[in-house]
Amino acid sequence: MSDATTPAVDLEQAEEQVDLPPIGSRERYDALMQVLRNRVTVRKFDETFAVPDEHYDLILEAARHAPSGANSQPWHYVVVRDVTIKQRITDYFVEEQRFRAKAKMKFPTPDYRGLATAPGFIVVCSDMRWVNAFPVLNDGSDLDRMYKENAERILLQSVAASTMSAHLAAAALGYNVWWVTAIGQENAQKAMKPLLGIPDEISVLDIFLFGPPAQKPYKRWHKPLDEIVNRDCFEPEHFMSDDELDDWIKNRCHRVMYKDASKVD
Ligand SMILES: Cc1cc2nc3c(=O)[nH]c(=O)nc-3n(C[C@H](O)[C@H](O)[C@H](O)COP(=O)(O)O)c2cc1C
Repeated sequence: MSDATTPAVDLEQAEEQVDLPPIGSRERYDALMQVLRNRVTVRKFDETFAVPDEHYDLILEAARHAPSGANSQPWHYVVVRDVTIKQRITDYFVEEQRFRAKAKMKFPTPDYRGLATAPGFIVVCSDMRWVNAFPVLNDGSDLDRMYKENAERILLQSVAASTMSAHLAAAALGYNVWWVTAIGQENAQKAMKPLLGIPDEISVLDIFLFGPPAQKPYKRWHKPLDEIVNRDCFEPEHFMSDDELDDWIKNRCHRVMYKDASKVD
């Protein structure tokens, strides 16, 4: 944490406390659920708003506490305040949007011009070399390949857990959020890394944007609980055939991405 900022909480003291509520404490759960429900994506922000430095610290402090495989904490966060860099990252995404349209990808790509409007702009990075912290053989065998694939999943899940903590902290402060991926490709890495001086060994995974919305946000549809919960065994009615899944992706995906929950069913 930089000397220029004064944290709102005594982080060192907070570090020492493991203060769990009584089991089943509904009040604490409700407070958390209020934040979870209000974590809502927007794709255009109020660009006149300036995020106080302290908020970046509070948000990334939440990211720091995330769980990770082998406690490896394989994440790095780059706070981008320079409007020129924001614009250049936005330009890359707008170009990607055009490429997808030309390639007839049939994916409902959003309007990435909204990136440049985000007052809060954080690039999420990972050091993929951390896969060696997980169970791997490193002997080039087929078995090693299998373990390596799993190690990569552990790593990506770890970064996602940390990123999600940051998103929830932003939501807790009252901000809307936007989680942008689509940057796994090599050309995306090449476009992004020099802008931020990111070393070759480090990968850019996501962009995390936050701020007050440009328009009133809407709540998207989320599957009802009984559709996702299975008790004691996987319930056959929850399984989608290939055709059902294709149909869902073709006809419903764009609606659940861009419409109010009430306009989906
Ligand atoms: C792993 C992950 C990747 C995502 N990638 C993108 C993305 O590249 N572009 C985008 O516009 N939204 C992206 N999103 C945002 C989702 O589209 C959004 O969370 C989803 O539609 C549900 O809406 P909600 O966040 O308002 O609940 C991503 C979200 C997650 C968790």
